[in-house]
Order: sequence, then structure tokens, then C-alpha cells
Amino acid sequence: MNLKLSNPKVKLLLITLLCVIISILTQAQTFIKEHPAINPYQYAVVKESSFEHGAVTSAHPLASMVGAAIMQDGGNAFDAAIATQFCLAVVFPGAGNIGGGGFMLARKANGELIGIDYREAAPKSANRDMYLDDKGNPIPSKSRDGALASGVPGSVAGMVSTQAYAKFPLAKLIEPAIELAAFGFVITDREAKGLNSEKANFLKNSSAPSAFTQREWKAGDTLYQPELAATLKRIQKYGLKGFYEGPTADMIVKEMEHTSGIITKEDLKNYRPKFRKPIEFDYKGHHVISFSPPSSGGIIIAQMLQMIAPYHIENMGVNTEASVSLMVEAQRRAYADRAEHMGDPDFWKVPTKTLISASYAKERMKDYVPGTAGNSKITQAGEVHESEQTTHFSVIDAEGNMVAITTTLNDTYGNKTIVAGAGFLLNNEMDDFSVKPGVPNMYGAIGGEANSIVPGKRMLSSMTPTLVTVNNKPYISIGTPGGTTIPNQVFEGLVNIIDYKMTIKAAIDNPRFHHQWIPDMIGVESDFPEQTINDLKSKGYTIMKRGRFGRMDGIQILKDGMRNAAGDKRGDDSVAGY
Ligand code: GLY
Repeated sequence: MNLKLSNPKVKLLLITLLCVIISILTQAQTFIKEHPAINPYQYAVVKESSFEHGAVTSAHPLASMVGAAIMQDGGNAFDAAIATQFCLAVVFPGAGNIGGGGFMLARKANGELIGIDYREAAPKSANRDMYLDDKGNPIPSKSRDGALASGVPGSVAGMVSTQAYAKFPLAKLIEPAIELAAFGFVITDREAKGLNSEKANFLKNSSAPSAFTQREWKAGDTLYQPELAATLKRIQKYGLKGFYEGPTADMIVKEMEHTSGIITKEDLKNYRPKFRKPIEFDYKGHHVISFSPPSSGGIIIAQMLQMIAPYHIENMGVNTEASVSLMVEAQRRAYADRAEHMGDPDFWKVPTKTLISASYAKERMKDYVPGTAGNSKITQAGEVHESEQTTHFSVIDAEGNMVAITTTLNDTYGNKTIVAGAGFLLNNEMDDFSVKPGVPNMYGAIGGEANSIVPGKRMLSSMTPTLVTVNNKPYISIGTPGGTTIPNQVFEGLVNIIDYKMTIKAAIDNPRFHHQWIPDMIGVESDFPEQTINDLKSKGYTIMKRGRFGRMDGIQILKDGMRNAAGDKRGDDSVAGY
């Protein structure tokens, strides 16, 4: 495009931008002014702390602080969760989002369980072969880069549905995010590096430059997002219609033209979140609640914990050959079931009841021989994709309401497309479908018919927001990003707390391992004990060392009622409360 001022298109763009900036600068900056402790230009990461009343832990200090402040102002855990989700869309654009989707799991203080599925949906004109070439082979870039990779976003609808359980109106809960977008916030080194590394992709995949591409970033720079602020203001004013209809919808549909996307105004208008009955099971005196399909996470952790339950892992030692091989054999079996049996339950009959039963877990472990490596038959190693992908946050309030939300754009910064004029990133969640049965997706996971592409269907997820109660009392809210590693991370986190009696912080920071049936190998973090790696190799396991995975955030209620919140050492994750 000709970027000279004489070009009428450039003139129009500049005038629009100026109007947006003027309108934003003339609005009152109310929330931040009323909460001087939240300083967007100077803030610290707090990795662990205990709070008397309410606590939030998320991927970004500002988002956690805003959530905590909302509770201190009289809101409950749902209010805090909504404010946190919108703030993450501003301060953590790599995974926080309004252009993606997620799962909201909650247990109210009165014991009522709520599961809101706001996962993205395949557009109406999607079809099962849309990412294949003429010879029927997948073209990976098509399901990962650009607008064609995007499912219909669900996050805004999810938050509107969550608001039914909150005390404050949506308009109030979205205000902090608007102010952070309009008046800017200082970015961390991690964020600066993330934005710089994707700049070329943002420019290639988006039809126009954006706030993210205006410069090379460094830690301490202030990121202003006037277009995103304007979009959030439309949601503030018009609710669902501020996103799924009107100017925002127009801009999303227009953005489709640049990279052959297929989301229409009808797709947007028809998007609805769905209420799902959570997965529930018991493990050693603890009642575990997690998300049901289209998440695979709840079923997988139910399977794995029940598979290891008879083996007294508490006596085997943390991350030893004995404990890791037991857990890996459970992971192998559960992930094999994931590939075969799990998909959107509105399109595929998922045998949930059987899969999560204790008798099925026992049957699956019948051929387990302690100290012997299993075999997934297909033994070739696949490259495992590393990225932040997704984000999780947990909230517990003073009344005992617990919320766990995992939300995602899929890959880091989604499909790298920023909707021109609207300032937000679109997801590449379509890659979570099984693009071709038996062919791995970006996480090296394979799937079959259960997870094939059908218009309106939701792609299988690994997101595992999880809650735990003891004696019917709230105890833990936990979850993590990390693609297919998510259920394993939550599994390991719960074993660390329940069996090894670790604090939530120690449980979260403990080195992780991951086996997903195919490829038949154990991925371990770089600080995993060398002795255990050698012992596992001697038993016949293939080990792949990889960087860190996940950024687990959780809150545990201690015996004295304090909310002990912890943020993962692996990121800028930070806790707040009062
Ligand atoms: N996109 C990651 C997941 O939903 O599992």
C-alpha cells in the first residue's frame, strides 16, 4: 500500500486513529485513579503469598491485581475472573484474549458447580478437508497461520454468561482493561521479546500494521492499544452486540479477506457458549472437579489419578524412576483413549462414564508391569512444539467461591492476525481439530473421527481448569497452559500436593515430565533429575529433554483458612489478594 499522506486511505486511517485517541484521552480514567496501588507503569511480580479473604493468580501481575481489587471493592470470584480475563487480553496478548476461547469452571460456596464452555467453533463453511492439499496431505500453515486458522471466538460470550454469577455489571468489570489498553502499561522483558519475535508474522498475516508492530520493543516500554480500547468500549456499551455484531463484527469479517478466512457475520451472531456438566471423581479423600468434553482434560486426569491410586506412589519418592514410570504408563493409556474417544460431545458420543470409572482404570492397568517400559507401537519421535499457547488463572473469594479459567488463542499470539481497526489477535484453534485422522497437530497429538472438522463443532481441547474440595469444603483451584501437556501437568501437580504433601508453590515449580502415547517418549524439563533420566533410559524409555513447559497457577486454602496463592516460576505469573 502507498503510505504517503496524499493517499486518501492513509488520510482516513490517520483521522480515524486520531479520533480514537482523542475520544480515549478525554474519557475519565476512573478505575486506575481509584486504585493507586495498581500502577501500570511500575509493578512487581509476586510469586507466592497468603491472603485472608480473596486471592487471584494469573500470568500477569496487573491482571491479578485488578482481580483482587475488584473483590476488595465488594465483588466475588466471578467478578474478579471476568475483570482478570479482560485485563489479560490487554496485558498478556500472547494468550490472554477476546479473539479466542476457553473454559470457566466454578464451584460456588453453596456447592453448586458451573462449567461454561466458550471454546471456539468451526465456521459454517468449514469442512473436514479444508486444510489438505490436492493429494490429501495436510498443509500445516493453513490451520496455524492467518485468518483461515481461526475458529469463531467465544471469550466475550463466555464472560457475558459468567456475569450472571457476578455482583457487578459487565460495564464495571471491563473498565480496568479499557484503561490499561488506552493509557498503556509497561511491558516486561518476556513480552518485549515475544512481540519482537512475531513482528514479521503480525505484518504478514494482518491487513494493517497494529499497536504491536510500531517499533522494536524492550523491557520498560509502554504499550498503548487505542484500537483495542475502542473495541472493549463497544463491548462495555453494547455487551455481546459490541463484539458479535456491529463495527467489531464488520472488522473481523473484513480481516478475513487478507488471508482467505471464512468467518461470516452469521457465524459471529450465532455463537453461543454452552453449559457443561463438570467431571467429578474422588482421589484419596479429595473430591476433584474438572472440565468435560470438548475438553479432554477432566477425563484424562480422572483416568490417570485412578490408574495410579492402588500403587502407593507416596512411598516411591518425587520424580524417581519408580514414580515417574508408573505415572508415564498411566499417561500413555489415557492419551491413547484421548486420540480415539474424545471430541465435541454434541457431535460425537464420548463414553465419559466408562472412561472415568475406577473399574475401567483398573482394567487399563492390567498389563502394567512395574519397572518395564510400555510400548505405544508407533515409535518414531516427533518434534514437540514449544510455546506459551494458553493461559490459566485461578480465583478464590472470601465466601469460598472458587473459579478456574483456562483460556487460549492456541499458539502464542494465535494465528498472528490482528483484526485491523479492532486491535485484537485471532486464534488458530482450528489446528486443534484432527485435520486428517492419524496425522499429528502442532502438539504432535493425533486424533480420529471423534475430532474431525464439522461446521459448528468445537475442537478437542486439553485445557484442564480444576478444583478440589475436601469434606465438601473448597480446597484448591489450579490449571495451566501447555497444549497437550496440560492434563499431565495438572495430574503431576495434584500428585505433588496430595501424595507428596508439597505446598502449592513447590508443587507448581517441581520439574515436569510428559508422555502422550504418541510419540512414544518422555519429555522432561531441563532441570529434571539426571539420575532419574538415566534410570528410565535403562528400563527402555526414550527421553527427550525440552525447555520448560506450562505456567501453572493455583490457590490452596490452608487449614487456618488463608488463601495461599502461587504463580509459576516459569513466567511473569504473579499473585494478588487482600
Ligand atoms: N489450544 C490448546 C488446547 O485447547 O488444548
